[in-house]
Formats: sequence, C-alpha cells, structure tokens
Amino acid sequence: MIVCFSGTGNSLSVAKEVLNHLPNHSLFRLDHSNSACMLSEYVEDNEIIWIFPTYSWGIPPVIKKAIDSFNGNNNAVHHMITTCGDDIGNCALQWRKLLKRHNFNTGCAFSVQMPNTYVNMSGFDIDAPTDEAEKIERMPERVKDICDTIKSFNGLPIDDVVKGSIPCIKTSIVYPWFKRFEMNPAKFKVNKDICISCGLCASHCPLCNIEMIQNFPKWGDNCTMCLRCYHHCPTKAIDYASKTLKKGQYTRYKNLVGE
Ligand SMILES: Cc1cc2nc3c(=O)[nH]c(=O)nc-3n(C[C@H](O)[C@H](O)[C@H](O)COP(=O)(O)O)c2cc1C
Ligand code: SF4
Ligand code: SF4
Repeated sequence: MIVCFSGTGNSLSVAKEVLNHLPNHSLFRLDHSNSACMLSEYVEDNEIIWIFPTYSWGIPPVIKKAIDSFNGNNNAVHHMITTCGDDIGNCALQWRKLLKRHNFNTGCAFSVQMPNTYVNMSGFDIDAPTDEAEKIERMPERVKDICDTIKSFNGLPIDDVVKGSIPCIKTSIVYPWFKRFEMNPAKFKVNKDICISCGLCASHCPLCNIEMIQNFPKWGDNCTMCLRCYHHCPTKAIDYASKTLKKGQYTRYKNLVGE
C-alpha cells in the first residue's frame, strides 16, 4: 500500500509513477474525507510506502498524525519517499524514529527533488521555469531506480537521500521552530478586491480547513501548511503574512490533485 499526502501534486505525481513500477500496490491519499484516522482501520499489506513532501527538513504534521494512528500488520516493512525542492535534512531519521516508537519495521528512505513550493519567507520563491522543467524531466528515472531498490530490498535499511548541510540543526532546531511559528494559518489573508468567491480554496483544502463565510475564505486551525490554497487560487487572492504578494504560484499539478 502507498500512503500519500501531497499539497500541490509533486508527491502525488511521484506516487503515480511508483504505481507504474509496483502495480500490486494500492494508493491511499490522505486528502479530504480520507483523513488520517481512516488509516486506523487494520491494514494487512506487508509493504507500506509513505510518500509525502518535506516541510522545513521534517515530516508534515498530517503524516505524523497518520503514522501515529496507523494500525497495520506488525511484520510489514515501511519505506518512505519524500519530495523536496532541494534537501531534506534529517527528515528520514525523524521518520525512522517515529515508526520505531510504534514498533514498525523501517526499510528504505529516499528523496526526490521536485519543483519548490515554499514561498512564505523572504528569499524563497518557486523555481525558474528551466529549473522546474529539469526536475520534472529527471523524476521518472529517479523513481524507477527507487522502485528497483525497493523490489530488491533484502532487509538492510538504506538511506538514499540528499540531506544538505547541517541536517541536525535544520531538523532538530529549525523544524520545531517552524512548526510552532510558521505553520500558522492565522497568517493567511484574502484580498477581497481580487477574490471572486469561487470557493475552490475551501473545497480543495486537503484538511477541510477553510470555510466560506459571507463569500470569503476563513482559515481554521487544522492546517499542515501545504500551500494548496495559495498556489491554486485562480486569481492569486491569498497571501501569507504579506510575504507572498510578489511570489509565484506553482500550478503544474493543479488538475492532478483535483482529480
Ligand atoms: C511548508 C513547506 C516547507 C518546505 N520545506 C522544504 C524543505 O525543508 N526542504 C526542501 O527541499 N523543500 C521544502 N519545501 C518544498 C517541498 O518539499 C516540495 O516542493 C515538495 O515537492 C512539494 O510537494 P507536494 O507538491 O506534494 O506538496 C517546502 C514546502 C512547503 C510548502
Ligand atoms: S480560491 Fe481564491 S478566488 Fe476562489 S474563493 Fe478562494 S481566495 Fe477567493
Ligand atoms: S489551509 Fe491551505 S495550507 Fe492549510 S492545509 Fe488547507 S490548503 Fe493547505
């Protein structure tokens, strides 16, 4: 079974590519009514592949919640594939520790570079079109190699990831700070002069965290900072802390996540 969370479609496109090579797997998307708690039902599969984006060199809160409530075959082997714009710090180690806490067996961990979606702070923006195209072009070959490694897994855990510089500091210090202060849905604002009240941000939020109140979006507290609402707004009416007004939107997989 593949368990996938994807904000803007990169991880979902990787999951679909994995399915081409491992067609015996089913795909469980953590999205909308497929909430993490549905995974608490007993899962008999003996191979679980977690596919999700890296957020601030760590695991998205929605994935942590899903692993915490996962109720599966104790003999199953778990692998992870995380997509990232650049590097993942010690995200793989964090994932291994979390699974070990639940006595699950961890196998291999992989990272796949995909177009960047993080735009909320100064200095961060979506990739230039040429960089985006290069990453997309490299993805199928990378996924094929990953699936070959998973197929020949012999019990020895492998980390095939790009950690980047100072991974300990990024995952142990920056990640908790980021989770506390920069995963704050109260910082989202809608520009009412631009918003056309289409309601897509609300209907597409994977955690159902947006309500339309008097024709405009209102954010609740249950946010994993996937930025789907920001990137997929058709009029770019959404801003985060006045930091994204001049940033780009990443829309390549808009239709894929809306499928
Ligand atoms: C909140 C947030 C934090 C991110 N942090 C990182 C990071 O630490 N390292 C990195 O290389 N990319 C980071 N990114 C980029 C995403 O991991 C990357 O674009 C990913 O492929 C998005 O996957 P998705 O389209 O499935 O949501 C971040 C993106 C977001 C939205
Ligand atoms: S998606 Fe954009 S335009 Fe549509 S309701 Fe939300 S903020 Fe307004
Ligand atoms: S509110 Fe926006 S950023 Fe938060 S989970 Fe929903 S779509 Fe993602």
